[in-house]
Amino acid sequence: MARRKLAAGNWKMNGTRAALAEAEALAAACPAPGCDVLLCPPATLIAAMAERLRGGPVRVGGQDCHPAPSGAHTGDIAAEMLADAGAVAVIVGHSERRADHGETDALVRAKAEAAWRAGLTAIICVGETEAQRDAGKALEVVGAQLDGSVPDGPTPERLVIAYEPVWAIGSGRTPTLEDIAQVHEFMRARLAARFGDALADGVRLLYGGSVKPGNAAQIFGVPNVDGGLVGGASLKAADFAPIVEAAS
Ligand code: G3P
Repeated sequence: MARRKLAAGNWKMNGTRAALAEAEALAAACPAPGCDVLLCPPATLIAAMAERLRGGPVRVGGQDCHPAPSGAHTGDIAAEMLADAGAVAVIVGHSERRADHGETDALVRAKAEAAWRAGLTAIICVGETEAQRDAGKALEVVGAQLDGSVPDGPTPERLVIAYEPVWAIGSGRTPTLEDIAQVHEFMRARLAARFGDALADGVRLLYGGSVKPGNAAQIFGVPNVDGGLVGGASLKAADFAPIVEAAS
């Protein structure tokens, strides 16, 4: 099946209101992209960004959500609140949250279920550490994360998987194209074994980790790579626009 590519930007903990100008510049630079485009700013900017980008080609997402719809969880944000602020998607299980906040596969799965409950697309992140890759365990780790983090009953429209090798994030290093192809083919097969070929064929599998304007076209040309989840290079429209172009 033909999957429309997705260029997603993860701003992480970067950006104040002044940075909304970059989001507007991106929308202006890509008025009719041949792919879906998503920016995931810090939670403080979601509502304002969604408002400014309304009706345009760039959609807005969150970077995390709590599993519960409301309650006594100081500092947390429910998926319903993200949707109310104008988000259409949420990243869950990013390796920085798995590492910094001890997020387990079970918690990531609960967050993905919360995303679906709120009508959001869940972008579920998986990826091995450098030590795990060096030990020849990359596929084993990614397989276990997929099994544990993806809830039952997905629909292709609401599920995106982002393969982000931890050692490639912010490092300027990327796996070889062959390694990316191997992991993405493996993930597609793993999803097919659990959910069937038809569903697995519709799920978008993103690559993330040091995607830049200079390598995006090559990476997005790898079989089973349906776009990218981009950190540093999504902060400036001048960097992200050519990546959107490469995905189009
Ligand atoms: O979620 C995106 C991210 O972890 C990749 O970051 O800066 O290597 O593109 P970066």
